Amino acid sequence: MSEILKLENINYSYIDGGYERQILKDLSYSFDEGKFYTILGPSGSGKTTLLSIIAGLDNAKSGNIYFKGKDLKEIGLHKYRRNDISIVFQQYNLISYLTAVENVMLAMAETDNDLPKDKKTVAYNLLERFGIVKTKADRLVTQLSGGEQQRVAIARSLASNVNLIFADEPTGNLDTATEKEIIEIFKQLAHEYGKTIIVVTHSDAVSEMSDQRVVLKDGTLSEM
Ligand SMILES: Nc1ncnc2c1ncn2[C@@H]1O[C@H](COP(=O)(O)OP(=O)(O)OP(=O)(O)O)[C@@H](O)[C@H]1O
Ligand SMILES: [Mg+2]
Repeated sequence: MSEILKLENINYSYIDGGYERQILKDLSYSFDEGKFYTILGPSGSGKTTLLSIIAGLDNAKSGNIYFKGKDLKEIGLHKYRRNDISIVFQQYNLISYLTAVENVMLAMAETDNDLPKDKKTVAYNLLERFGIVKTKADRLVTQLSGGEQQRVAIARSLASNVNLIFADEPTGNLDTATEKEIIEIFKQLAHEYGKTIIVVTHSDAVSEMSDQRVVLKDGTLSEM
């Protein structure tokens, strides 16, 4: 399997109450293409911080990140976020005054990647793949259940045709049955569509279903 994301000696600290507290310490790890990873770790260990750095939302204080062998500094964080990655959030982060299909189409407008011309049809098809039929796709997202909104968010994350998808507690607001369905979707995306999925979770049920469990502790990542 080929490497898609490589972290090399990442350091990150916050200034907290006047002194510096180091969250990530010389963290190095490689993620392979087509695999479903979960990142576990105690609350406050720095999982969300790590995700925001590898998703290009923040800069590490030192260290390097390579996407497909190319340094993120060379790619540029803006371009990386626009064309190479998507993020799925616990709170779904959909635009509340738009319908499900409009939310998905919006993501298609926000990338330079080559996409099919008929964006609306593609958006409906993507949603349908995750159980959001046309009548639901035409509803405002606020009129969908939590599980349905998370499916829309997953469809949106795929709309821009990226290979790397991050998620922070994507099933944190969902019941166990819906959680299982969402995780099945992630597994399928990795195994059948070659996407790399990196999910931060506290759920054992979720991590047990992943290909590789990685633990963040004392500022570094280690495989379980
Ligand atoms: N902007 C900030 N300024 C100062 N400290 C911060 C900031 N953001 C987070 N922290 C601290 O850094 C540590 C790591 O936070 P982070 O949110 O990454 O943890 P986490 O592993 O995602 O926790 P949880 O499992 O509870 O979501 C925590 O102690 C947190 O209080
Ligand atoms: Mg967190």
